[in-house]
Amino acid sequence: MSSQSSDIKFSDLTTLIATRIAASPNQRVPFAVFMDWALYEPELGYYAAHRQKIGAGGDFVTSPHLGADFGELLAEQFLDFWRSLDRPALFHLLEMGAGQGLIAKDVLHYLSDRAKTSAEYAAFWQALQYIIVEKAAPLVQEQQFLLKAFAADKVTWKQWSDIPAESIVGCCFSNELVDAFPVHLVEVQAGQLHEVYVTIEADSSLPPFKEVLDMPSSPKLEVYLSALGIDLTTYPNGYRSEVGLAALDWLKTVAQKLSRGYVLTIDYGHTAAQYYSPQRDRGTLQCYYQQSHHNDPYWNIGHQDLTAHVNFTALEQQGTRCGLENIAFTQQGLFLMALGLGDRIYANTSANTTASDLVQSLRRRDALHGLMNPLGLGGFGVLLQGKSTVSSLREYPFKGFTVSGAAF
Ligand SMILES: C[S@@+](CC[C@H](N)C(=O)[O-])C[C@H]1O[C@@H](n2cnc3c(N)ncnc32)[C@H](O)[C@@H]1O
Repeated sequence: MSSQSSDIKFSDLTTLIATRIAASPNQRVPFAVFMDWALYEPELGYYAAHRQKIGAGGDFVTSPHLGADFGELLAEQFLDFWRSLDRPALFHLLEMGAGQGLIAKDVLHYLSDRAKTSAEYAAFWQALQYIIVEKAAPLVQEQQFLLKAFAADKVTWKQWSDIPAESIVGCCFSNELVDAFPVHLVEVQAGQLHEVYVTIEADSSLPPFKEVLDMPSSPKLEVYLSALGIDLTTYPNGYRSEVGLAALDWLKTVAQKLSRGYVLTIDYGHTAAQYYSPQRDRGTLQCYYQQSHHNDPYWNIGHQDLTAHVNFTALEQQGTRCGLENIAFTQQGLFLMALGLGDRIYANTSANTTASDLVQSLRRRDALHGLMNPLGLGGFGVLLQGKSTVSSLREYPFKGFTVSGAAF
């Protein structure tokens, strides 16, 4: 996708970012700062503006957009977590980055329905408190509208600062949150690690932003890479990738808030060795607009999503530093199959009696297959970490992690 041509008027957000960069030391900011403004600047940033972003009419779809199955199967895993903690009287489900609130809706509807006919689900429902931590104000409004049937006694919205340390017993979970964190961009030049900064063009009629390379803005970038055993200075000239420092800060906060229970992270990503594979020499940064993707973050600023893959090895390492056990890691397709996706696919194919049933069933089959397609959502990573609880699948065979497959 091409950059803005010189006769295009810059958006308010572009102008605001350009003004801020002009006022910054050396008239530049690390790419991570630019990305944070582009996504989260109040009222103007991609997630912070009132506009449809996620879903078929937006820029990309996530698993809950394929139907209620994703949330319902997750609910089965949450029930299993509750059992594994010896059925505490209060069980928190803390969803971080809830988007439009679809997962919360599907989890809560499913569990409240089951609670009507099963004593065990009823006890789980009684214990359940659903908390949402969401950064984007318009999405909080959408979530509150969608969940108003539950809001009074089941769902609350909180900032991290409202949640005391070591107060959460239950599960902190996210779907496609970590890929939405700003990342630092690094590039190798002449055997040295450089960081990508965003600066402004001298001629303001041009597309206003351009990249410059310089030494890293913080020693944390090199510390991050060396902890993973990655030495980018041995990589070819021009090799570019990302460093996700924000994900480490986030996991530290989550670990601090957790007293006993689990952190479940679902997202697209790689292990560190795959992430920094010499072949992946342009990194993983992608921009999404109207269901297509490209790699120009300076185009259509505030109207396109910017995202980078998750480094799961970095999350595992950070978990260990922050007192979390790394319990299991699998792929979404295997995770959902273990939770009952296969039964749903079978029930769907055997239920057709009329032509319209068949059309419905074919649509549903596509959606269910979409959740497990290893080249798409099914290939997402599912990382389970825990605190003050069982530390391995040998101790407790968590339902979603009982189907094993090739590591990706
Ligand atoms: C890609 S969307 C995923 C939404 C949803 N989980 C889903 O599966 O459809 C990322 C979400 O994370 C939110 N987000 C980003 N950074 C956040 C942060 N630091 N704390 C809480 N929410 C955040 C965004 O506003 C958005 O709701």
